[in-house]
Amino acid sequence: MFQTPFSIFNPDDDLQPSSLSEILGAFSYALDLTEGQPAGHSIRACWIGTHVSMALGLKGEVLRDVYYAVLLKDLGCSSNAARVSKMFVGDDRKLKHDFKLLGPEPEDFGAFVGSAVGVDADPDTRGRAIDNLSANAGEIMTEIMAIRCSRGADIARRLRLSEDVAQAIAHLDEHWDGGGLPLGIAGTDIHLGGRIALLAQVADVFYTARGKDAAIAEIRERSGSWLDPDLCTLFEQVSGSPGFWEDLARDDLPERLWALEPGVQYVTVDEDYLDDICFAFGYVIDAKSPDTAGHSARVGMIADRIAEILGMPAESRRVLRRAAILHDIGKLGVSSAILEKPGKLNADEWKIMRSHASLTTNILGQISVMGEMAMVAGSHHERLDGKGYPLGLDERSISMESRIITVADIYDALTAERAYRPSMSSEKAMSILQGEVGDAVDPQCFAALQQVLENGLPE
Ligand SMILES: [Fe+2]
Ligand SMILES: [Fe+2]
Repeated sequence: MFQTPFSIFNPDDDLQPSSLSEILGAFSYALDLTEGQPAGHSIRACWIGTHVSMALGLKGEVLRDVYYAVLLKDLGCSSNAARVSKMFVGDDRKLKHDFKLLGPEPEDFGAFVGSAVGVDADPDTRGRAIDNLSANAGEIMTEIMAIRCSRGADIARRLRLSEDVAQAIAHLDEHWDGGGLPLGIAGTDIHLGGRIALLAQVADVFYTARGKDAAIAEIRERSGSWLDPDLCTLFEQVSGSPGFWEDLARDDLPERLWALEPGVQYVTVDEDYLDDICFAFGYVIDAKSPDTAGHSARVGMIADRIAEILGMPAESRRVLRRAAILHDIGKLGVSSAILEKPGKLNADEWKIMRSHASLTTNILGQISVMGEMAMVAGSHHERLDGKGYPLGLDERSISMESRIITVADIYDALTAERAYRPSMSSEKAMSILQGEVGDAVDPQCFAALQQVLENGLPE
């Protein structure tokens, strides 16, 4: 029987029912972090896009698809973060934030390259990056947008959203005049949801950075070039209605947005669906780094097996597996320039790297159905000897569930292939883990992992 004073899950606790919009909306804060946008960007964009859609007369499933396409337009954004950071030599989150505030003209891009690329790099590296971008801008930007769009559409499908939502997300960076990427399609060939999502994105990005007048001016400026002119006219009407901008700034905007979810009665988020949502966000997390493909799902699977050996009840294991899959969600808030740095991190970079653990707690803490998982997942770098992070908890206060995730995480990190080293054998990884038993690694969890490996892990 699974007995520990540290177990925090109570299988008798019933999850509070939550709507799909509330769950995915809470996850959307993680997407804002990845894009370097102020918290709530996805939610505000969804509010704007939904009101434009309603003014257009959309209803039912069509309205619902636009709602989710705008809320989750950035689902693919983690997948190009490492590429952006490498090509533009810098912090992808800052680069992406600043990039969205560029004017629409080619010379605006040129000025951006001149001022933003490699600002902290040595002159040679900076010069090479600028030369490369100047010579190959079209190719590089097409590739960066293509990764984001196809990955975003793929994850939307994993979230059981419709093909229309997937298509709308895939078309997010297409422009009305055909000058967008990656397809260069124009006019109504661009999915309506994609056209609304881009308008809503531009409006909120300029609203939060420069205020409502700047947002209105930017939509007017881009009408007919980036943006569908009919939608821009509707935006003028909607944003001119009393209280529109005040609503956008209200603290209860998220709850008001959940209440606006179209067709809410048709979807029940049951336990299976919640598992799928966690797996889908596991893909978002792993996409942030070229080296971490499959890490989140594998840690979830290994943690589940360890918990089974330890006799944890099935319902608790299910919750634990979700926490294990999402343990690194805070990495979405860490620059790829740090995550992918080939050399040693300096003290400041290391501090930012370590912040991913508390960010995990913060992000999951905002998702009501995952509340109990937040601390469990965010404690995966704590150590029994108290030398871990983020809180420096010790054996008196680290839950058994966190200990299980820690062992699974270290084992998978050691045995996974990395660009800078081949994968380590299971035997070698276990001997390293054994050396940490009692300090970083719980002895029961280590013994359980040994048994899991003896039984064999699936390929
Ligand atoms: Fe981690
Ligand atoms: Fe990890």
